[in-house]
Amino acid sequence: MKKQFSYICISCGTEFPKWFGQCPNCNEWNVIVETDKKTTGYGSRDVVVVPLSEVEFDEVDRIKTCISEFDLVCGGGMVPGSIILIGGEPGIGKSTLALQISHSLHTLYVAGEESPVQIRSRATRLGLNIDSIYISSNTQVEEIIKLILSNKPECVIVDSIQTLFTSEIQGLIGSVGQIRESTAQLVAAAKKTGIPIIITGHITKDGAIAGPKILEHQVDTVLYFEGDFSKDFRILRAFKNRFGSVNEIGIFRMTGKGLIEVKDKNSIFLDSYYSSPGSAISAALEGTRTILFEVQSLVSFSSFPNPRRMADGLDLNRLILMIAVLEKHGSLKLNSFDVFINVAGGFQINETSSDLAIAMSIASSLKEIPITQDIGFLGEISLSGEIRPVSQCLRRINEFNRSGFKEIIISKNDSKEALHRFEGEVIGVKNISEALDYLF
Ligand code: TYD
Ligand code: MG
Repeated sequence: MKKQFSYICISCGTEFPKWFGQCPNCNEWNVIVETDKKTTGYGSRDVVVVPLSEVEFDEVDRIKTCISEFDLVCGGGMVPGSIILIGGEPGIGKSTLALQISHSLHTLYVAGEESPVQIRSRATRLGLNIDSIYISSNTQVEEIIKLILSNKPECVIVDSIQTLFTSEIQGLIGSVGQIRESTAQLVAAAKKTGIPIIITGHITKDGAIAGPKILEHQVDTVLYFEGDFSKDFRILRAFKNRFGSVNEIGIFRMTGKGLIEVKDKNSIFLDSYYSSPGSAISAALEGTRTILFEVQSLVSFSSFPNPRRMADGLDLNRLILMIAVLEKHGSLKLNSFDVFINVAGGFQINETSSDLAIAMSIASSLKEIPITQDIGFLGEISLSGEIRPVSQCLRRINEFNRSGFKEIIISKNDSKEALHRFEGEVIGVKNISEALDYLF
């Protein structure tokens, strides 16, 4: 008899024929759970081969919502018949975002978590047009699909996928099998009707809760809603998108009147407009956007034999590497100092182009000499202390221009190109000691 997969890792989504304590794929512990046998959901397809050129297609119009940041992250609006998953930690604002999206379209809102009264009161408080929203508390997926077919809304919101269930298979509401089968049925319904369906799903930071992680391959677009609970801004990030770029981000502020789109994005990640020791500014590329952000360091004398290194917003290993390069090639003595580093506003650095800003912010804090806030840094640092060029340098330079920066310090190899584009002074440096000599 053919073997049936009946265990799944809720962290990485890999399926296994038997149970393991540790996932052989992602090495996480206690993440393998039993799931119902694989169900159809997708339906069988005809076995025919056609030339790709004969496949009919229409250049579809995207469905725009009233939230342009959301449209941008989706790749220019929702594609008809697509399934969009908005994942995020509980309380981050998924339901608020979904409700705000829904009011500009004729929407069927499937409320599995909150009562219609709660949603009505929230919508009224947010000043939304409630006439276009139709609400259902029924969370049986077959019933929802019937409602979709009879109501023909422009958009469907399912809040959240963890509350849906199907009578097709056994298993508790919220179990892996139920979530996957419910999603499969929604996918089929979206494709059949051409109506986009937005589903929300709870996830913890490490992805340990069954839900979004195991759905990533089933849906067309996965957006993660992130942010620091202590701060009011939120980032919507495209993690997977069959219809657009995956690096795109949308920025919001959570206010008493719901989520507000942030247009002046630099206002969030540039903390102080005055110079203080330990702060340096660089530019990151996020999809089609360029964002300026501030790296802040605190270098203080350590009373421990092993000084501490802490990084918030960047990889700790990158920080340790920068410290080693500064010691070896910049002649800075950091081995008796604790080094704490933070990226303002909760921004996450994923590129090496901000190495120079990181290194200079550490040096600035150690020497207690501030770097003026109208200097921008761009450069990757190699193990030999060399400052390397960065990708798409001109896009980053444009952003420095727009924000009125007076000076940029970049790799010598990038400086020729930058001279033509940057409106202020361009300082090209070959290695880390040249940069330190120039600044301090
Ligand atoms: P919610 O959208 O319910 O989060 P999720 O669906 O991701 O669990 O948002 C809940 C949080 O947002 C809650 O802590 C209160 C806050 N909030 C505001 O600050 N302002 C608002 O106008 C709304 C609706 C929510
Ligand atoms: Mg919610």
